[in-house]
Amino acid sequence: MPYYSQEIIDEIISKNDIVSVVGERVHLKRQGGSYVGLCPFHNDRNPSFSVSPSKQMCHCFSCLEGGDVISFVMKYENYTFPEAVKVLADRAGVALPEVQYTPEMQLVKGKREKLYEIMNEAEKYFFYQLKTEAGALGMRYFEERQLTPETIQHFGLGYSLQYSNDIVRYLRKKGYDDDLIREAGLGVFYEKEGMVDKFINRVMFPIQNSNGKVIGFGGRVMGDAKPKYLNSPENLIFEKRKNLFGLNYARRSKKKYMILCEGYMDVIAMHQAGFTEAVASLGTAFTPEQAMLLKRFTKDVLLAYDSDGPGVAAALKALAILNEMDMHGRVINMKPYKDPDEFIKGLGVEEFQKRLDHAEDGFMFEVRQAHVPFETEGAGARERTEFTRTLVDMLCRFEDEIERENYLTDVASIYNIDRDTLHNAVIKAASRGASERTKAALNVRSLGNEESAKRKDNIKGSAKRCEMTLLAWIAQRPELYEQIKEDITASDFTDDIYRKAAEIIFGQIKNGKVVPTSVIESFEEDEEKRAVTEVFFSSPEELEQDPQMESGAERFKNLVIKVKQNGLGSASNMSADPNAELERLIAGKRLVEELSRRKFNV
Ligand code: UTP
Ligand code: MN
Repeated sequence: MPYYSQEIIDEIISKNDIVSVVGERVHLKRQGGSYVGLCPFHNDRNPSFSVSPSKQMCHCFSCLEGGDVISFVMKYENYTFPEAVKVLADRAGVALPEVQYTPEMQLVKGKREKLYEIMNEAEKYFFYQLKTEAGALGMRYFEERQLTPETIQHFGLGYSLQYSNDIVRYLRKKGYDDDLIREAGLGVFYEKEGMVDKFINRVMFPIQNSNGKVIGFGGRVMGDAKPKYLNSPENLIFEKRKNLFGLNYARRSKKKYMILCEGYMDVIAMHQAGFTEAVASLGTAFTPEQAMLLKRFTKDVLLAYDSDGPGVAAALKALAILNEMDMHGRVINMKPYKDPDEFIKGLGVEEFQKRLDHAEDGFMFEVRQAHVPFETEGAGARERTEFTRTLVDMLCRFEDEIERENYLTDVASIYNIDRDTLHNAVIKAASRGASERTKAALNVRSLGNEESAKRKDNIKGSAKRCEMTLLAWIAQRPELYEQIKEDITASDFTDDIYRKAAEIIFGQIKNGKVVPTSVIESFEEDEEKRAVTEVFFSSPEELEQDPQMESGAERFKNLVIKVKQNGLGSASNMSADPNAELERLIAGKRLVEELSRRKFNV
């Protein structure tokens, strides 16, 4: 079952402090003995994600996602278990022995590796075609766009031929089956035609993940046909919201900031011009996941979006995401051009550098955009009042007083508003806002309590709750197992998930050590993983707070008895033979009586 020895896993876990590993991906704040932040696994508005340095576990109190450092990295990065182990081992400088895979792991790993492999094969093929006679069209297109041979090589640009099933045939010949070709998004299946190439007669832009592995393609028409770009569909290795085009190179840039733009061609043009700190989202809006990716390298992001219309709207959205992530956005003035590619061709590298140097502060940009609707002819006191109110709201966003006052001074002078008036309005609104926020937080908290109380109530005293608590107790203090190993078996657990978990945990105890990650990873479904994570994360003492204030040992004993009784009554444990069944029940009854007299040490 374990693919690495428990010693190695333990060493990796102990050398990767969960607070810093999570902290590289989620903005954390200290709160008492633990750290909290916005949960990366659901759309979190209040920080529900808690990381415990003492338990070396993380847990979301809202969506219940969580686990130890390895399962966090798996979940967050979408890695398989061995991939996560490898990354964390590298991070901590732990040398890994050769991996032993189970058949199931082999399957998942195989699937991902096959996808990487076929993508790599396709990249080489498209790149090769570009240099052939048939690819001259594509080559001419790139030349017209002033890309140098070095740039084409660097980005692995290519060309897909005009035939309807060229690469499909090539990949089949290489031994890849149709299912994989389709899953990789290189072929599309039609009833009539069978497998047909996805990309036909397009120049090809390979999309690499931050480690430089090809995970998809963007294919551009060379004329004006629609759609301009075709993109690979998402699959096991290609998730648009979690990747940025160009990041594999931009991460090595020495600049203190990153440039975020919208297009593949923009990234390529900027890199060619020496701005290797440029990245682009993948044909979709900028996401919080991409913000966190960037945050590993810098907090300072320059937006190179179109200066008009949709570009401004996109910039405002990106700024909001950056703000939320505690990052700092600035906006590059691209006028009179639409994108960096055209800008650099039009005004050159030096002028572009100047625009970078003078990028507008994100907040000031937002204020300027907020002012636009009020710039109508004949605007008077009413418009000014409304704009000032908008400003007050915006300024209230700053929690830091110094920062707020500085911005306040600037906007007051730029928009010709009396500073004191603005200041007083902000103070008033901020204190009102603060009390509302506190109230809201209190509400949420009491709501949260109610909800979790309800949840707990539902299962309180129920078999499931007892099973969960007993299992949590044993999983977290395996030495207790010694006292019940003759009495309680996995089959006493009536809940499917806990039964399977008990089987694995008891097995691991017998083998010497409980490895939470491998227990959690034995479950396929997220729902199951969550339930099992809770077994390791919840503290059994708290779960079993009994009004009668029994001692720990008594509580433990009661749990053992309840689980045993429940297991005895469970249909799956019954015997079809009436005599055997009677014997089973009598033995069970005796055992329960004996248990109730026994003394446990807890
Ligand atoms: P743009 O339309 O701004 O194109 O789309 P571009 O990047 O400037 O490309 P060129 O210069 O005309 O060649 C910006 C990005 O939006 C996505 C692509 O990622 C593109 O780079 N996009 C655009 C699509 O995915 N599909 C489309 O049809 C168009
Ligand atoms: Mn362009």
